[in-house]
Amino acid sequence: MSDTMPFADAAQISDVPPGSMKYVEVQGREILLVNVEGKIYATDNRCGHMNGPLSMGTLQGTVVECPLHHARFDVTTGKTLKEGHLGGVAHAVMSTTKSGGIMDMVKTHDLRTYEVSVDHDIIKIRID
Ligand code: FES
Repeated sequence: MSDTMPFADAAQISDVPPGSMKYVEVQGREILLVNVEGKIYATDNRCGHMNGPLSMGTLQGTVVECPLHHARFDVTTGKTLKEGHLGGVAHAVMSTTKSGGIMDMVKTHDLRTYEVSVDHDIIKIRID
């Protein structure tokens, strides 16, 4: 990431209270803002498994869980903590088909993280 890239306005700090997350679009990127005990983190909003919307998932501490197949990521690093996986009936049905086998081969990638700056009440992130 280049140090010369400017920060872009993403949201007001009041939009993301501690313990919450918010979806924003910044310069065409889908970004997830997360407030962990007053510190703001920014990652891609799309899950590293199959692009599920993480902002519609759940947050516990620094861990966001995808609403689709329950992959988990650490929002402070973007690292995958648990791979996404089809479960229950869906997996049983899919695993009997060719596409089910393909689905099992889908890996979960780490999330991209973005540098965050808070200037007065405005959350800014650096997009390169
Ligand atoms: S799309 Fe997120 S776990 Fe599958």
